Amino acid sequence: MDSPQLDWWRSAVIYQIYPRSFADANGDGMGDLPGITSRLDSLKSLGIDAVWLSPFMRSPQKDAGYDVSDYCDVDPLFGTLADFDEMLNRAHELGLRVLIDLVPNHTSDQHEWFKRAVAAGPGSPEREFYHFRDGDVPPNNWQSMFGGPAWTQLPDGQWYCHLFDSSQPDLNWENPAVEKAFEDILRFWLDRGVDGFRVDQPHAMGKAAGLPDHPDVERAGAGFIEGEPSPPMWFQESVHPIFRKWRAILDSYPGERAMCGEAYVLPLSFMALWVRPDEFHQTFNFRYLDSPWTAADIRKTIDESFDAFGSVGAPSTWVLSNHDVMRHASRMGGDFGRTTASDGVGPNDPQPDAELGLKRAVAATLFTLGLPGSMYLYQGEELGLPEHTTLEPQFRQDPTFARTNGARVGRDGCRVTLPWESGVGAANGFNTTGKSWLPQPQIYAKYARDLQEGVPGSTLETYKQALRTRKELNLGHGTFEWVDELCTDSVLAYRNGSLLVTHNFETNETTWRFSS
Ligand code: GLC
Repeated sequence: MDSPQLDWWRSAVIYQIYPRSFADANGDGMGDLPGITSRLDSLKSLGIDAVWLSPFMRSPQKDAGYDVSDYCDVDPLFGTLADFDEMLNRAHELGLRVLIDLVPNHTSDQHEWFKRAVAAGPGSPEREFYHFRDGDVPPNNWQSMFGGPAWTQLPDGQWYCHLFDSSQPDLNWENPAVEKAFEDILRFWLDRGVDGFRVDQPHAMGKAAGLPDHPDVERAGAGFIEGEPSPPMWFQESVHPIFRKWRAILDSYPGERAMCGEAYVLPLSFMALWVRPDEFHQTFNFRYLDSPWTAADIRKTIDESFDAFGSVGAPSTWVLSNHDVMRHASRMGGDFGRTTASDGVGPNDPQPDAELGLKRAVAATLFTLGLPGSMYLYQGEELGLPEHTTLEPQFRQDPTFARTNGARVGRDGCRVTLPWESGVGAANGFNTTGKSWLPQPQIYAKYARDLQEGVPGSTLETYKQALRTRKELNLGHGTFEWVDELCTDSVLAYRNGSLLVTHNFETNETTWRFSS
């Protein structure tokens, strides 16, 4: 490893690999671990510090791998444990750290634990792994995040709780056996040498005693409101001792292993509780991702971020795109009637302005890359990839689409395979066969990496240069202050050491200037 710096996670640029769509070595149309290994050099040359891999463990793939049926094995779709080890070794040789996804709120309904619970019947200790309840009607009013009720009934009459798809039963974290099982899973991967975890939906793991109704079912998926009690299925205090135990396990390994919580918790002052010194190292700063891109909103969000995370000695993370939200190169393409970042658009919806979106997105990224803290990038944003906004219904795989009868198109549009070499097969070098589990739109050929490599002013080279400077000046560990005399209603300017960053929200331009 070439980054011996202590607290690497405080400043790291972490690149999210979505294994299904990154690179496909065996040509079956689904990305895989050997594909990732073969392309790691290009990530090194991009200038990132670490990668986070979305799930590649055994899974029926009902929620693209976030429905795990065996936490300690690789799904044959992606390869084998030996392929994983090879990928990890290669990443480490290149000085890149590797975080993997841990999904502790729910398993797949095909996990042995759930199959045993179903077979063992009501009242059995096996059912205690999950939340089972009796009744003629669903035990409470909770709704699934993917639409419809959060309860499904088995033929024997009992209901099980699932805050996501019915194929993703929620685990019962009150059961010490569940805790123990996950400690073993953590150790399994830490022993293999992973540098840490991105933890899925940690704010959902605890449930209020007695599983009471949500006071306002319309807000079942919404965030915390200051002054109001936490909703019964989110943000329960009972989760914190679990994270402290996990932190102690990570800390018992050499080499600063780290964990980032996907804690969708607001306001930021509340999220900060999740990154106290003995809990998560980082959480995703979704407030930043969700903020309207205006000077006033972004200034307020940045101030709140530094205040909140600073109050517990944690770094802020910054993130603009991931596999659950519309790519920011499209999201920022004007006002086209969307209300939430997590829903894509379909062929019959008003379409974003691609040119405006890309210009704003690159400027937003440059503005963000100058900030101290850790930055998450989502695969393909370094190419300026737009969302696939005209994906036909027959290709859609996100359970959100089916569970809402198509009312919400879901997240497939940001998960399309990457174009590496323009014109190499129908999937532009994603593989050589041209197969692609989600078809690429034709315009992706224009964004292929090979067309941008070495081309001054391309999105790829712009990212590379900014990442190089960020590293040279150690901006991630830097300092932050607004330059008030340059700030207006439509301009924000800040200083990080010798770097002055100015962003104009009207012209969508960002400049970096240096002083000694
Ligand atoms: C997280 C993942 C998302 C998944 C959900 C349920 O939000 O990022 O992709 O669908 O959890 O596991």
